[in-house]
Amino acid sequence: MNPGAALAEPARGSATDFAQPPVSPQETIELLSVSLLDEHRALVEELKAMARSLRIELGWHYLLDLAWTIHHLGPVEGKTVLEAGAGTGLLQWFLARSGAQVMSVDRLDRAALPMRLRNRFHVRGLRPSDLHPGWRSLARDFTRPLPGPFYRRWASGALAFGRDLASYVPANRSPGSVVLYNQDLKRLDDIPDNALDAAVAISALEHNAPEDLELVVQEILRVLRPGGMLIATLTAGRDQDWWHSASAGWCYTDVTLRRLFDLPEQTPSNYARYDEFLAALKDCAELRDNLARFYRHSQDKGMPGGVWNPTYQPVGVIKIKKAVPV
Ligand SMILES: C[S@@+](CC[C@H](N)C(=O)[O-])C[C@H]1O[C@@H](n2cnc3c(N)ncnc32)[C@H](O)[C@@H]1O
Repeated sequence: MNPGAALAEPARGSATDFAQPPVSPQETIELLSVSLLDEHRALVEELKAMARSLRIELGWHYLLDLAWTIHHLGPVEGKTVLEAGAGTGLLQWFLARSGAQVMSVDRLDRAALPMRLRNRFHVRGLRPSDLHPGWRSLARDFTRPLPGPFYRRWASGALAFGRDLASYVPANRSPGSVVLYNQDLKRLDDIPDNALDAAVAISALEHNAPEDLELVVQEILRVLRPGGMLIATLTAGRDQDWWHSASAGWCYTDVTLRRLFDLPEQTPSNYARYDEFLAALKDCAELRDNLARFYRHSQDKGMPGGVWNPTYQPVGVIKIKKAVPV
C-alpha cells in the first residue's frame, strides 16, 4: 500500500457542492445553533474526516463555526481568502483543497510547519522567515522532545516515526495554496489595500481586547476588496462582555460586536435566544462525545480537564466592506 494513501484524501472540490450560500449576503450577528450540524451534515462529516486524516484536533465548538463559515463563504475556487488567526487550523487546508489561494495570518511562529501538511498542500512563506526549508521541519519532527520515562519516550518516538513516515511520501497536492504570514493582524504591512476577495476567522478574534479588536477589524477591511465579506466566529457573552480566563478570550455582547465591527444599529442579531441556544449546546451529545483529547490534559483550553460544561457559545459575524463611492 502507498503509505501516502493512509492520509486519506477526501474527494476534491466537493466542498462547494453542499454549501449553497445565501443569494445576497447580509451583515449579521448570529449565535451558532447546534442545528447547523444536521443542516450541513455532509459537510460536517467531511470536516471530521479531514481533521482525522490531517491529525488536527478541533476546538469543542469548531464544527459549528466551520460549517457556518464555509456555508456563508460559498464557492472559493480561484479566490484569494485571508484566514485571520489561522494557527495550523483546519479551515485553511479545507479552503486550499477547494481551490482557494489562502493568506494564512497568525502571530504564532509556524515556520516549522509539520511535513504532513507541507506534503499535501502547496505552502510557502510570504517572507523567507515565515516558513523554514522542509529539512528543518523534518529534523524537528524527529527530534521533538517527548514526555515521560525513557522507554515510554522511545516507544512513542518509534510510533510517531512510523505514523509520520506516511507524510514523507510525495502525495497529490491541493489545487489551491496556503501562504503563511506570521504577523499580528493589527499590522498586515505586506498586504496592499483591497487585495483579497474575502476574509475568515475561526474563534481567533476574541483573543483581542476590545480596543485591539477594533484595530484588527479595520486592518482586515483595509486588505479586503470593496464588497468583500469578513466572516468571523468569536465567543458570545449574553448581556455583558466578560473575559473567559480558561480560553484567554473575550465573550462579547451583540452591542459590542456591532460597535467593533462598525455594523449599523439595525444589523440583525439572535441574542434574544441566548439562553435557549446555550442550553441546546450543553445538551449536544455529538459535540460532547467528539471532545478533543487535548482538553483532558489541559486547564487552559476552554474546557478545563475535559469536563463537558459549555459556559459560553460561539457567535458568527458577517461584515461587508463598503464599495468606495466614485
Ligand atoms: C483559538 S486559536 C484558533 C486557531 C484557528 N483559527 C483554528 O481554527 O484552529 C486562535 C488563534 O488566533 C491567533 N490570533 C489571535 N489574535 C491575533 C492577532 N491579533 N494577530 C495574529 N494572530 C492572532 C492566535 O495566535 C491563535 O493562534
